[in-house]
Amino acid sequence: MKKKIFSGVQPTGNLHLGNYLGAIKNFVDLNNDIQNECIFCVVDLHAITVSQNPKDLKSNIHETVATFVASGIDPKKSIIFNQSQVSAHSEAAWILSCVARMGWLNRMTQFKEKAGKDKEKASIGLYSYPVLMAADILLYDSTHVPVGDDQKQHLELCRDIAQKFNNDYKIENFFIVPEPLIKKEFSRIMSLKDGLKKMSKSEVSDLSRINLTDDKDQIINKIKKAKTDTLPLPSKIEELDKRPEAKNLIGIYSSLMNNTLQKTIDEFAGKNFSEFKEKLSEIVVNEINPISLKIKELLDDKVFLEKILKDGYEKANEIASKKIKKIHEIVGF
Ligand code: AMP
Ligand code: TRP
Repeated sequence: MKKKIFSGVQPTGNLHLGNYLGAIKNFVDLNNDIQNECIFCVVDLHAITVSQNPKDLKSNIHETVATFVASGIDPKKSIIFNQSQVSAHSEAAWILSCVARMGWLNRMTQFKEKAGKDKEKASIGLYSYPVLMAADILLYDSTHVPVGDDQKQHLELCRDIAQKFNNDYKIENFFIVPEPLIKKEFSRIMSLKDGLKKMSKSEVSDLSRINLTDDKDQIINKIKKAKTDTLPLPSKIEELDKRPEAKNLIGIYSSLMNNTLQKTIDEFAGKNFSEFKEKLSEIVVNEINPISLKIKELLDDKVFLEKILKDGYEKANEIASKKIKKIHEIVGF
């Protein structure tokens, strides 16, 4: 059976190695399989759930498209489009927000993390964000959704919303209940400064992440300064549970080499971090440097990037408009 793949990335700048290994690298593999129909969405409606500078948002949209293409997603094979251009997303989000329950949303850990202590001051959009994400996915009859580990709970919510809508309106299989595609290992890349915090676009210290636009020297410097402990590299996987920074660096290495953790551990057991970091820098630079050069080149060609978004809009809008029309009929509008 043909897989229908859908995923989204927020245009909030600083796309990093976590986005790449947790999500974008999988998008590329899925795009390369001719069995799949892929749709990749630049989710600007999600971005404004926290304050954005309008000028930066526009350039971050271009940068996200450039990153998709530079990483190897072929816009001829996959649909790449901008969420806000297809109005069915906002419409479907409203309708689905009347299906989703407060109790379900109250459990979302990402909202709790992002809203922080002062929940009263968080936007309503930040709270209902996973409902919009469900709308994105369900409008396209998506069967599989590749994401990083942090989005797992949102996908479960999307499945619940799809099932409740189908039950409430008594239309079996109207919404396809999608499957998450989350890598078993290394689906959460951690900060280079704190192995217990995920690598994030919004972390103040730029040293905490490797941006996909970093040049060779920046990458080498960040890996050199990455936090480690004082012990040599472990010889057993179990030791990693107590050594989060070591685990993260070994995980990044393994993921880039398509190795198991065990294989990397066997290769470096007992060696010191300076030696390991040199090897790690080499492979991160080999993977990221061509992408960062390509991003810079593509960002100079706004006409090309706009053309991708226009073509993507037309294709996405055709699919989504049909689905929202059916939703209207089912609901009784
Ligand atoms: P975002 O930048 O929040 O829109 O995330 C885009 C994609 O990258 C989503 O699929 C996330 O799950 C994934 N992602 C973000 N941060 C990380 C991380 N530190 N490790 C692994 N995946 C991540
Ligand atoms: N919420 C996702 C994130 O922050 C982005 C996203 C929006 C998404 N809509 C989506 C991911 C639909 C997968 C499918 O990472």
